[in-house]
Amino acid sequence: MVERTFIMLKPTAVSRGLVGSIISRFESKGLRIAALKLVRVRREMAEKLYAVHFGKPFYQSLIDSISGRDVVVAILEGRSAIEVVRLMIGATDPVKASPGTIRGDYGLDITNNIIHASDSPDSYEYEHKIFFSPEEILD
Ligand code: CMP
Repeated sequence: MVERTFIMLKPTAVSRGLVGSIISRFESKGLRIAALKLVRVRREMAEKLYAVHFGKPFYQSLIDSISGRDVVVAILEGRSAIEVVRLMIGATDPVKASPGTIRGDYGLDITNNIIHASDSPDSYEYEHKIFFSPEEILD
């Protein structure tokens, strides 16, 4: 099933100059870029993206880690894109993420774990609308 997923390359990925390397992995896999842009995240956007984590011990540091900072957001399209991208990014905690995955290859910090990706069709529907208008998504 061809589907779409939302990804966000976190500020660390941008400041460390990893954007090209990471996007290249998805292109090499065969995923199509349907939308792509560099964005400075407003605090309310961060709070909306991570609303599901409100009240958790790491919530405030998570919000602070992206608010006012630059991220690259994209929509990727392909067969089972949500599952494929989640496998490619690896476990949430980079310590546990397998070598060969993006989180496994590029860092150690769980808050700045390089990349976020939607984990379900519902989260894709919710998350991509925070960053993209319909006109920005191309067939
Ligand atoms: P992300 O995929 O962006 O979705 C939610 C984020 O919360 C996650 O990546 C981590 O950066 C962060 N996170 C999840 N669990 C923890 C935790 N136990 N401690 C700190 N941060 C966490």
